[in-house]
Amino acid sequence: VGPKPLQGKRVLVTAGGTIERIDPVRYITNDSSGKMGFAIAEAARNRGAEVTLICGRTDAAAPNGMRIVRVDSALQMYDAVMSNLPNTDVIVKAAAVADYRPLHQEEHKMKKTSEALTLELTRNPDILQAVGDWNADQLDADKLFVIGFAAETMDVEKHALDKLNRKKCDLIVANNVAAAGAGFGTETNIVSVYASEGLVEHIPQMTKKAVAERLWDIAQARMNRLNDQ
Ligand code: PMT
Repeated sequence: VGPKPLQGKRVLVTAGGTIERIDPVRYITNDSSGKMGFAIAEAARNRGAEVTLICGRTDAAAPNGMRIVRVDSALQMYDAVMSNLPNTDVIVKAAAVADYRPLHQEEHKMKKTSEALTLELTRNPDILQAVGDWNADQLDADKLFVIGFAAETMDVEKHALDKLNRKKCDLIVANNVAAAGAGFGTETNIVSVYASEGLVEHIPQMTKKAVAERLWDIAQARMNRLNDQ
């Protein structure tokens, strides 16, 4: 048997949802279980990659055989991702990052005072955008292969291609999270993979583990093509 297909590759995967604290006992989060990101990280490990998994809040048990960095907020995930970029060859951003966080984080548990409460939110950095911008400034030989996700509920292809171009990804995995058997928390997923030239492959409903294997087949083929150029 020859070397495994991702032998020698340093793969960074983000998984799970971020937690945006309101006060010491309350936070804003989302329904990401981490299953999709974990499946991608495990498949990469099995293909011989050296894997770093950066994960937020998750329901599933964390995989073994890789370096795991636990974070809570989008700001922490941003720092963890950006500081690992120089040691990364491929990045897969399956995490569901909160776009906004509370502007003020209360030091003490908030008290009930009025009938209505307005929470002021402020924008979080877009980590994938920062990765794409960082990558654009690297020499060709040092460039990462960037795989983003796009969770959409309508006009999936249009939004996915827009995210691919804006965030400077090599591939984008579009997830119609409104479809049954796809998206947050489920055992299965349904995705369409896009590159700059358009649809690469539609992956019909299958387990997240099987989706992860197909994603790596597609990514490996494209990385090999880039290396041959
Ligand atoms: O964890 P599971 O329960 O298995 O569910 C899997 C999943 C539905 C979470 C996953 O398949 C998925 O779609 N992940 C991306 C969710 C998401 O945040 O999508 P988005 O369209 O909002 O963001 C687009 C891309 O930008 C994503 O790669 C995201 O990680 C990234 N992003 C978004 C906002 C932000 N502030 N920083 C980012 O890096």
